[in-house]
Amino acid sequence: MSVQDHWNTVYGTKGERDVSWFEALPSVSLEMLEAVGLTDETCVIDVGGGDSRLVDALVGKGLDCLAVLDVSGVALQRAQERLGPAAKPLMWIESDVTAEWHLKPMDIWHDRAVFHFLTRAEDRERYRAHLHETLKVGGSAIVATFAPNGPLTCSGLPVARYSPEALAAELGDDFELVEARTYDHHTPWGAIQPFVYARLTRRPIAPIQLRKDASEPSVFSR
Ligand SMILES: C[S@@+](CC[C@H](N)C(=O)[O-])C[C@H]1O[C@@H](n2cnc3c(N)ncnc32)[C@H](O)[C@@H]1O
Repeated sequence: MSVQDHWNTVYGTKGERDVSWFEALPSVSLEMLEAVGLTDETCVIDVGGGDSRLVDALVGKGLDCLAVLDVSGVALQRAQERLGPAAKPLMWIESDVTAEWHLKPMDIWHDRAVFHFLTRAEDRERYRAHLHETLKVGGSAIVATFAPNGPLTCSGLPVARYSPEALAAELGDDFELVEARTYDHHTPWGAIQPFVYARLTRRPIAPIQLRKDASEPSVFSR
């Protein structure tokens, strides 16, 4: 079964509160987004947003430059139906995060529980390429995964678990870890899932300097 078929089946057969990751209010995500300094002009992409209520909360704060990307069109449709007319001006992208997709530059990249499904190095490489293409220099990435003591699977699929430092290392030297939190998520049926949330800033690009070595006049270095 393809990744898309898997997730469309999940969203097509389970209700909102039948999935382990449901949150009535994505409070840690919202606190981290607020810590960046949200205004109604801030552009946010929720990667693997599914039918999360994060987008509802951001619309409620007056933001309308919002994109939700998910491999499951069924999940996106559910979110759109819940939001009603408020969904219209937003950007909805039905795609695998590792596939071809493009978006205008955004201020904040948010991902709760998607990166941890990318257990193959080449998929994480493509994720990083999209992160670099989409997030503005100076922008923030908020990424949440299962913690090192978290579950080994989610929705029946294997996941990788991360400490904040390991997550920062995965995103690369362009990112500085500015805030890390551990959080015990309570599933709708009361199980506890330890999560790690990392907030990182994309560093400004180092200025390019001309080498003073006369023997290599046409070579530039950082
Ligand atoms: C565990 S759920 C989390 C949903 C949402 N972020 C939340 O916090 O409620 C994982 C989500 O990622 C989506 N997903 C899984 N793999 C994906 C991929 N490779 N590309 C895009 N979305 C993916 C699923 O469809 C699902 O909506």
